[in-house]
Amino acid sequence: MLKIAVLVSGGGTNLQAIIDAIADGTITNTKIEVVVSSNPRAYALERAMNAGIDTVCISPKSYTDRRGFHQALTEYLLQRNVDLIVLAGFMVVIPEILIRSFRNRIINIHPSLIPSFCGKGYYGIHVHEAALARGVKISGATVHFVDEGTDTGPIIMQKAVEVLADDTPETLQKRIMEQAEWKILPCVINLIAHDRVSVRDNKVRISKD
Ligand code: GAR
Repeated sequence: MLKIAVLVSGGGTNLQAIIDAIADGTITNTKIEVVVSSNPRAYALERAMNAGIDTVCISPKSYTDRRGFHQALTEYLLQRNVDLIVLAGFMVVIPEILIRSFRNRIINIHPSLIPSFCGKGYYGIHVHEAALARGVKISGATVHFVDEGTDTGPIIMQKAVEVLADDTPETLQKRIMEQAEWKILPCVINLIAHDRVSVRDNKVRISKD
């Protein structure tokens, strides 16, 4: 059974997609061990509690410096003995100590087709603002492993979504969530739970079942 920790900061619709996918059997052999929030007011915490999942808030604001926060987050996740960390709208830069402790065992959902509109400053609604400002006709979402860079880790799965002429950042964000994020994130977790994802030379291979 794959034990996962889902890390959140906000609304938690991707967390909800994972909870629903476990409930309806789209994801099997997986248990959400804990939901960790960086923000005590995140609605994602309520979603977790409604589903009977253990929650904890580890906020950078509770520590005098970043090092203390990084240490606490890493130690907590090691102590919970999770197999996989899922970043689902976790708006905190992931510390190197955590990446080293969970090499190729941290995945992130990003709301664009990496390498477009990613890296420093590209998160949440800003990603969609940038995509519309550039006038792209296709955007989408990416699930990737987390390495020391920002959105630079091995890509596991991507899904394209059409940009419409009258899109606003909000309508584009919603369509990308519905058509891409809420599908590919559960799909990747299920593949990992069945040992079908491997990394070699920084590239991901998905084996046939
Ligand atoms: C999602 O669109 C996710 O892809 C994005 O934040 C949103 C969180 O929504 N993540 C990033 O931008 C990470 N760089 P949610 O809390 O409703 O799942």
